[in-house]
Amino acid sequence: MANFRSLIAFLGTVLTLAPAVAAQSGQVRIMPLGDSITGSPGCWRALLWRKLQEAGVTNTKFVGSLPGQGCGFDYDGANEGHGGILATGIVARRELPGWLASASPDVVMMHLGTNDVWSNLSPAEILAAYSTMVDWMRESKATIKILVAQIIPMRPSNCPQCYDRVVALNQAIPDWAASKSTAESPIVVVDCWTGFNPSSDTGDGVHPNNSGNEKLASSWFEPLVQAIQG
Ligand SMILES: *[C@@H]1O[C@H](CO)[C@@H](O)[C@H](O)[C@H]1NC(C)=O
Repeated sequence: MANFRSLIAFLGTVLTLAPAVAAQSGQVRIMPLGDSITGSPGCWRALLWRKLQEAGVTNTKFVGSLPGQGCGFDYDGANEGHGGILATGIVARRELPGWLASASPDVVMMHLGTNDVWSNLSPAEILAAYSTMVDWMRESKATIKILVAQIIPMRPSNCPQCYDRVVALNQAIPDWAASKSTAESPIVVVDCWTGFNPSSDTGDGVHPNNSGNEKLASSWFEPLVQAIQG
């Protein structure tokens, strides 16, 4: 009987707490998904988070299995930016469903394909991987909002062809996105390419330095605010 009473008391507490939990449902869970450009250290995410704070957009929680790295100030740094990873690799190893199940994002912002391009995979192969990932995202949440980057340009010293391969991938992304987007779960293309110069915005032809991080944060800002508030 005592146990029964404490069970009732416990249920009463749960029911009392429920409205408080519901009141936080305005919080939007955002998963930055990508490779080292996103994750390590990916300080454009810190700059982006700070821009959101300055704009009063504070109902966010960044999610993912990886922690933020040092970018000079505290920020909400969780992410799913795995160094060296390929879009096709994520699909081959079926990694995304588990990440989604742990993080439950409302919005995914994806900058992926740099390592696929480096591995000379075709736009068609990369976009097929994007499609599988989008299907997994919608299995995780039917109304998930998906932001897909036209990725930053690259000029690594060991791949003179990579610059043009990125251009080819980026050119194919809008048609792919239009064919895969739905009213319930829109795909928005985010142009991270225009205005980004791998000579002056990266130290190694691939990874953004401070100048590149500022540009990436600016590219993501408006589309992300719209996804949060839309
Ligand atoms: C970014 O890297 C380029 C090339 O190394 C360099 O010229 C530029 O000064 C760097 N900018 C910043 C802000 O770090």
